[in-house]
Amino acid sequence: MAFTAEKEALVVDSWNAIKTDAAELGLKFFLRIFEITPSASGLFPFLRDTSVPLEKNPKLKRHAMSVFAMTCEAAVQLRKLGRVILKETTIKHLGATHAKAGITGEHFELMRYALLETIREAVPYMWSPKMRNAWAESYDQLVEAIKKEMRPVA
Ligand code: HEM
Repeated sequence: MAFTAEKEALVVDSWNAIKTDAAELGLKFFLRIFEITPSASGLFPFLRDTSVPLEKNPKLKRHAMSVFAMTCEAAVQLRKLGRVILKETTIKHLGATHAKAGITGEHFELMRYALLETIREAVPYMWSPKMRNAWAESYDQLVEAIKKEMRPVA
């Protein structure tokens, strides 16, 4: 089914409404992930062996921002081009990084749940099943693009 301008607007408008609070949302997003699956924090090299508290870790916030912003960009591309196209070097790097870090389909599922819950809580006045589906579809297509480049690490 086509990714319509309506779907694009559902993602982009909600993102624009909350992006000024992205740092705080990013933290909530990751705390939710670690609350559901505490072992997931062990996947991030910069969280191991550090005395910096989670909420002060700039790399965690940066990762959350990447997920939010890239999902939003995916919505724009899906409407314009019908698929998610990232720069060749970017997608290869993302595939390799996540493969090396041992990220599995279950981790992507967990993040999907946390992402949708975080956006829902951030924009309760805008939230609807249609908005949920538009975010979910954008995220799923972005993840598919990353997964294609995740070859087993030798
Ligand atoms: C690294 C984006 C999903 C764990 C990264 C980087 C980006 C990124 C941009 C930094 C690459 C670099 O600069 O080297 C995304 C996007 C995702 C996603 C867009 C989904 C759409 C996940 C999931 C997990 C995860 C589900 C695990 C729960 C990691 C880890 C690193 C990483 C462990 C390496 C961090 C490091 O070595 O410093 N990701 N990510 N990512 N991501 Fe993700």
